Amino acid sequence: MSLLLTGIGLLATQDPELGEIVDAALVIEDARIGWLGRAGQAPAADTAVDLGGRCVLPGFVDSHAHLVFAGDRAAEFAARMTGRPYTAGGIRSTVAATRAASDERLRLNLARLAAELRAAGVTTFECKSGYGLDVETEQRSVRIAAEQTPEVTFLGAHVVPAGIERADYLDLVCGPMLAACAEHARWVDVFCERGAFDVSESRAVLQAGIAAGLRPRIHANQLTAGGAVALAVELDAASADHCTHLSPADIDALAGSDTVATLLPLVEFSTRSPYPDARGLLDAGATVALATDCNPGSGFSTSMPLAIALAVREMRMTPAEAVYAATAGGAKALRRTDIGRLTVGMRADLIALDAPGYLHLAYRPGVPLVARMWQAGQEVALGLSPTQ
Ligand code: NIG
Ligand code: FE
Repeated sequence: MSLLLTGIGLLATQDPELGEIVDAALVIEDARIGWLGRAGQAPAADTAVDLGGRCVLPGFVDSHAHLVFAGDRAAEFAARMTGRPYTAGGIRSTVAATRAASDERLRLNLARLAAELRAAGVTTFECKSGYGLDVETEQRSVRIAAEQTPEVTFLGAHVVPAGIERADYLDLVCGPMLAACAEHARWVDVFCERGAFDVSESRAVLQAGIAAGLRPRIHANQLTAGGAVALAVELDAASADHCTHLSPADIDALAGSDTVATLLPLVEFSTRSPYPDARGLLDAGATVALATDCNPGSGFSTSMPLAIALAVREMRMTPAEAVYAATAGGAKALRRTDIGRLTVGMRADLIALDAPGYLHLAYRPGVPLVARMWQAGQEVALGLSPTQ
């Protein structure tokens, strides 16, 4: 089956060679892009949809999210707004609620957040464990996450939970917990930070994950400029995430590597922290991704458009850089070559905005602009179910 999308006011391909095409059309053939170009040259197709001048982009790729949990931490947010700082310790309260939740509850919570992501234009998302922190609940978490996305990350090393010695917990994470989770996950992650795990502990966790067939990514330099970014580059991690506190050497290391700097401005917004140095990274030549980091503690938002608006307003990324980071940058952070750009042969994951251009994502912050979505060539409904 082929579908011709026509009436595209602006097609922002995110491909360096194709760039942006005005008055464009695009043909979806089954799950892939079969053709794109100027509308006047479009080939015939089985069916056609006129998008009435809307802007079309690749679907957003949210390469960092924590979506398997129960409970919320609204009171912690309220305390932060009166001046209390964010610390890693709050994670433990979500762990208690997550352990007590049934599989069905966790599944419904995840489905609700996945629907929110879709409504905000996300066609691929990554999902971490990390609120179980025992073998049974970590395994439940990665299993449930794998029902919704292929990009599942084992984050047993989120913090040391209550009731177990640090060394014993590290042995558990690198041994039985990893063994129970590896078959459901593609990635291994560690929260390398004051109050969580130091650089040598983090290296041990990631190396154990790599030995089990997983690929590394790291929560790096969120609260302090420690050695986590250097570790990410040392291990050729797909991504160093947060990068809120960077030294000049960290920027140079990222720019000279294949490790993407994934920036999470919804966290800086929700923790009232300084924003990362996106300009320094981009000007040095690093690849930057934007992701939501949706989680109940440091930032409970599923809005990639708001992340883009913050990147433009607060981090001085241009709208084009921010949209690239939220699409092609996210794809690189997941080492995916089939998504994040619109070119012939790529997966037909795309969105149409209720706007003539992508600048409106920053110009109209907080406004739901995603009008239509196709995922692997199929149109997807964007509404939220009231039963969840
Ligand atoms: O990415 N930094 C570690 N993990 C999450 C927050 C976890 C939490 O506070 O529940 C983050 O910000
Ligand atoms: Fe995170």
